[in-house]
Amino acid sequence: MSLYRTNEEVAIQKESCLMVSATITEVAKILKPGITTLSLDEMAETFIRDNGGIPSCKGYHGFPYSLCISVNEQVVHGFPGKYVLKDGDVITIDTVIYKNGFHGDHAYTFIIGETTPEVLQLVKVTKESLYIGIKQATTGNRTGDIGYAIDQYTNGKYGYGVVREMVGHGVGREMHEDPQVPNYGRRGSGKKLQENLVIAIEPMITMGSRKIYTLDDGWTIVTADGLPAVHFEHNVCVKKDAPEILSDFNIIEQAEKANANLNSSYYSL
Ligand code: MF3
Ligand code: CO
Repeated sequence: MSLYRTNEEVAIQKESCLMVSATITEVAKILKPGITTLSLDEMAETFIRDNGGIPSCKGYHGFPYSLCISVNEQVVHGFPGKYVLKDGDVITIDTVIYKNGFHGDHAYTFIIGETTPEVLQLVKVTKESLYIGIKQATTGNRTGDIGYAIDQYTNGKYGYGVVREMVGHGVGREMHEDPQVPNYGRRGSGKKLQENLVIAIEPMITMGSRKIYTLDDGWTIVTADGLPAVHFEHNVCVKKDAPEILSDFNIIEQAEKANANLNSSYYSL
């Protein structure tokens, strides 16, 4: 199966990506202290199915939920559950939706209420690094150019940890396809990018050490030092001059700014 899409296939896949954006937006509207993360998962699963999508995570190698919800020191693949959200939590919503033969897969990190300037900066820099990586997703560049750019900015400039064990990836008819897209690397190394390859670019950045481990549930990845981690992810179609972002943060950001329980002050840092 070719990794490269026709323009028609890209348009079809974009619908799946935008449904992920819409789902995360629905979560953004209701996020507040006092609710459980499981309630978010239940709402999202209903929303996805009502819109004709299938929550790809549910049942994927036994993953039990539709959303990955990772709070504070959790990096990725956290389980929704009885945990009650509180002021100051940093919460990443990551989900994958299958529709019309293609998966969309992306993630967004929110801050509930008040937090420290250090956390605000970590969220801001991680989001910026995603766009810095995306800029490299043009024809003829290599996966290492993306990773290099993300690592230089987050670790090189700010000294943050860049998680290496988990990586971005091709996304299409399968949730995870070639090539792997690490968030570190050497310029000019890795797989050459060609037009209409669709990849998930997803920096996972920690405030302290990049060391991680997996909880006993077999899924939840946490930082070893207990410091917070942030994760933003877009689906990107490689193009000649400028990559095309298939997912949409604008609708999420609108909901984020409209929800008084969420902290979006880092935009103006
Ligand atoms: N965006 C996550 C990833 O690419 C989604 C995983 S779904 C799960 O790893 F089921 F594996 F959690
Ligand atoms: Co992914």
